[in-house]
Amino acid sequence: MCGIVGYVGKRQAQPVLVNCLKRLEYRGYDSCGIALLGKNLEIYKDAVRIESLEKSLRPNSSHTGIGHTRWATHGKPSQINAHPHTDCSGKIAVVHNGVIENYLQLKEQLTKEGHTFRSDTDTEVIPHLIEKYYQGNLEQAVSRAIVDITGSYAFVAMHADWRGLVVARNESPLVLGVGDKEYIVASDVPAVLDYTDRVIYLEDGDIGVITENALRCTSNGKQVERTEHRIPWSMEEAQKAGHEHFMIKEIHEQPRVIRNTYKGYISALEPVVNLGIAKNTDLSDILILACGTSYYASLVGKHVIQSLSQIPVRVEIASEFNYSDTVLGKTWVVVVTQSGETADSLRALKKAKESGCRTLVITNVVGSTATRIADETLYITAGPEICVAATKSFIAQLIMLYLLALAWSSAGVRSRAGLITELRQLPNKVQELLDREEEIAEQAKYLARYENVFFVGRGINFPIALEGALKLKEISYIHAEGYPAGELKHGPFALLTPDTPVVALAARDNTYETILANIKEIKARESPVIAIAEEGDDEIDKYVDFVIRVPRVDPVFSPVVNAVALQLLAYYTARERGCPIDTPRNLAKSVTVE
Ligand code: F6R
Repeated sequence: MCGIVGYVGKRQAQPVLVNCLKRLEYRGYDSCGIALLGKNLEIYKDAVRIESLEKSLRPNSSHTGIGHTRWATHGKPSQINAHPHTDCSGKIAVVHNGVIENYLQLKEQLTKEGHTFRSDTDTEVIPHLIEKYYQGNLEQAVSRAIVDITGSYAFVAMHADWRGLVVARNESPLVLGVGDKEYIVASDVPAVLDYTDRVIYLEDGDIGVITENALRCTSNGKQVERTEHRIPWSMEEAQKAGHEHFMIKEIHEQPRVIRNTYKGYISALEPVVNLGIAKNTDLSDILILACGTSYYASLVGKHVIQSLSQIPVRVEIASEFNYSDTVLGKTWVVVVTQSGETADSLRALKKAKESGCRTLVITNVVGSTATRIADETLYITAGPEICVAATKSFIAQLIMLYLLALAWSSAGVRSRAGLITELRQLPNKVQELLDREEEIAEQAKYLARYENVFFVGRGINFPIALEGALKLKEISYIHAEGYPAGELKHGPFALLTPDTPVVALAARDNTYETILANIKEIKARESPVIAIAEEGDDEIDKYVDFVIRVPRVDPVFSPVVNAVALQLLAYYTARERGCPIDTPRNLAKSVTVE
């Protein structure tokens, strides 16, 4: 979604703001802009890339400014709709992330009161409201303005007559980087990492007043202290490290990410997983809530937790749960969200809490909003994921869900010991697969010629078919559908032709024979078939056009190696088609609107 930045401190603001905006580019954007303190406010903005904006900047020695990358929601990408937005006097500027739900009523009211609007955005009502209430003190005007606003926001406001910033937050992320005689405001941690690893996360309802030497935070008019956190990632970790794209770098980090995720939770002495999360004695069932890729990881989690712990598990898409009458009894609600900031997942988490359920969040981001709402948190420690399409965070989510299943497993000690041994071997197995990525790149050259692809799987690998299709469509723009292999003949068969390849996941579990039968049915419709099959499975070669080999693992862990193979297939297909892999069109890294 939109990225916001702000700077007050000892350095010149302009280069800091430009650099911070570049660090947020990975979130996806269509316009950008900055405002700097000068004699008045100097504003540069347009529907352009940051490099173009940078070229248009005149030298400015001010130490205060704000910046924005816009991902259009209200009004098309254009110079007028780009942020910062200003009031009538041009003295107040605002950058905003979120959605002001009552902006039309506010706009109508403010227009009657003599304010003139220029853009189609919801944001523009904020500087006008601040102007309405401004009597020489920006903090007081912001405090009064937010009373009138309904919706989600993280915004930064500045005034031409004052060397400071006022920030406010409600249901959209806002982080303050704390440096030596400087503060950097941002919607996301990577933006501040060049300057500091010390951050403060604001809470909903907070207003922060920032000057070079001080930060003062209030909530409901009372002064509050917010904890400072240290970010455990270096800027180097957030860089490409010689890879062509962040996505392939992040795919290659997965052996380490798997190790980091289970390390610390598995006892070295006995086959025991201890997550520090106690099992409720009166627990009736588990409900997992998530969106997108995290939802697919949760579907795999359902299979594993149910089969190892015998506890009934349901999985719902968070945005649907928010409008459903799902019955919650003694249900334990687990929310899976890489960013910890996805608006639909946060709303679902709040709904579950309000229903009195115990809640756990599985996330990658320390201090993110979800961690402050949930009763308990498990971190997946995937490190910064910059590519918009999730890869290593998905694999880390899978590993955490395996750990949860193992921690609560009712399986005997011997079978648990066997699974833990297998889990420890996964990093090497994934590395073996990565070492053979050239073979997958060859298959990708073939796939890149088509415009429609089906992915099929069964059982624990059906969610991987969904994930494979999602990865391919989001980065290569090829239309792809994930299906349970048995469902194709109930409709989608009508679409099978020699121009519709099918990628079939043939795991060596109890679904193997049926998936072979499904592959034969598909071949009878003349669709080319690429199978993802384990080493040593020579049978499959008889029925398909190509085979992508994955290392042999216990079938319960086959989703991990299969998902990595499909990530590579999607990556090389998109590369072959010359797509902007790390920042696909229309997508954003964290979706902070419902
Ligand atoms: C796809 C992708 C998205 C996210 C979804 C939820 O590659 O990354 O589908 O999985 O937007 O995001 P989180 O996990 O941050 O809640």
